[in-house]
Amino acid sequence: MNINDVKKITVIGSGDMGNGIAQVAILAGFKCAMRDIEQRFVDKGVASINTSMDRLLKKGKITEDGKKEAMARLEPIVDLEQALKDADYVIEAVPEIMDLKKKVFSDLDKTAPAHAILATNTSNMSISEIASATNRPDKVIGMHFFNPAVLMKLVEIIRGEKSSDEAIQIGYDISKKINKIPVIVEKDSPGFIYNRVNAPTGLLLQRVMEKGTPSPNDFDAAFKAVMPMTPFELVDYVGIDIAYHSQDYFAKTLSPDYTPTKAFKAKMDSGDLGKKTGKGFYDWSAGRPQIDTSTPTTEFDATHMVALQVNEATKLIEEGVCTDPKEIDLAMANGGGGIGPFTLAKSIGYETLIQKCDELADKFNTEIFRPTKTMREGKITV
Ligand code: 3HC
Repeated sequence: MNINDVKKITVIGSGDMGNGIAQVAILAGFKCAMRDIEQRFVDKGVASINTSMDRLLKKGKITEDGKKEAMARLEPIVDLEQALKDADYVIEAVPEIMDLKKKVFSDLDKTAPAHAILATNTSNMSISEIASATNRPDKVIGMHFFNPAVLMKLVEIIRGEKSSDEAIQIGYDISKKINKIPVIVEKDSPGFIYNRVNAPTGLLLQRVMEKGTPSPNDFDAAFKAVMPMTPFELVDYVGIDIAYHSQDYFAKTLSPDYTPTKAFKAKMDSGDLGKKTGKGFYDWSAGRPQIDTSTPTTEFDATHMVALQVNEATKLIEEGVCTDPKEIDLAMANGGGGIGPFTLAKSIGYETLIQKCDELADKFNTEIFRPTKTMREGKITV
C-alpha cells in the first residue's frame, strides 16, 4: 500500500482535534468520515469546521466553491461500521485515557478493513501499548497534530515497537499531502518531542498554582509581549483536562514530580476546562480573554521557560528519542513554539539557562528542573 491507495480517511472523535483533523483531510481532497458516539457531538464538530472554513474564506485562503467541495467530502456519522466502511486510514482522536484508547483500537481492529492503517493522535501515550489492543500492531502508528490543527504545521509521526516502515511512510506522506510538516519520532517515548519538551513548563505552572502566587493573569502578563498565547491561556485553549491527563501520564511514566497537585486537581474537578466550556483560568464566553498586563510578575520570565525547554530537549538527545537537535527545533518551531529551543539557547547562552534551571530546581525542590549533563556541557548547537 502507498499514499495513492489512500482514498478515504476516517477520524474517530469530533472534538477540537478530531474536527480539525477532518477539516485538513477534506481540504486536501480526501473523503473523510468523522465519527463520534452521539449525534450532538458530531453536529458540534461540523459546526466548528464550518466556522473555521468561513474564517479561511474571509481571509481568501479558500474559495466558496472550495469550501463547498470540501464539505461534500465530509461524512459526519455516528454508526461505527458505516464510518469505517472502505476506510484506508483511520485517525483516532478520543480523550486521553489509555483504557479508552485500547477499547477504541480493539473495536477499530475488528471493524476496519484489514488493509487499513490505524493512527492515534494521542498527545503523550505509548503507541506500542495502544497497538497491543489490536491484531495488526504493524499497521498502528502515532500521528500527533497540534491545536488548532488547521493552522499548526507540525505532525509528529511516531513509530511504535512494531510499526512497519510502510505504515510510517504512509503517515509521513499523508502529512505532506495535507500540507503539514511531519517529523518522524523513532522512539516511542512519553510526550514524543513537542509535549515532552513542554512537560516541565507545564509542571512549573502546577507549582505556581500550588504556591498561589503569582495569579495566572499576572504570570501570563509577563509573557504577553513574547508569546502568541501566554502559558495559562494556552492551557485553557488546549483544555485543562488535556493538560491534567498529560501531567498525570508523565507522573506515571517519567517522574512522580509531575503528580497533579491539589490546586490542579481542584481546577480539573471544577469542570471549568477552558475555552471548550467557556471558562477556565479565564472567561472565554466572549472570545479570546483580555490579559491585564498592568501587574506582570517579575519572579518569572521567558528565560525560565526556555531554560526548562532546552534542558528537557537535551534529555531527548540523551535518551536517544532524537539524534538530531535540528529535528527537535523543527518540531518545536512548527508545533506552536515559533523558535526552536536550541536556536534560542544559542542566543541566550547556556550559562544563563543553567542558572535559571538550578534556580527553579532549588526554589521548588524539583529535580526534574535540574540541568542535565549535556546541558551543563553546553555544546549542542544548531
Ligand atoms: N480556523 C481558521 N482560521 C483560524 C482559526 C481556526 N480555527 N483560528 C485562528 N485562525 C486564523 C484567523 O482567522 C487569523 O487569520 P489571519 O492571520 O489571516 O488574519 C489568524 O488565524 C490569527 O487568528 P486570531 O487573530 O483570531 O488570533 P491569534 O492571532 O491569537 O491566533 C492562534 C490564534 C493561531 C491560535 C495563535 O494564538 C497561536 O498560534 N497560539 C498558539 C497555539 C499553540 O501553541 N498550539 C499548540 C498547542 S499544544 C498542542 O496542541 C499539543 C496537544 O497534544 C495538546
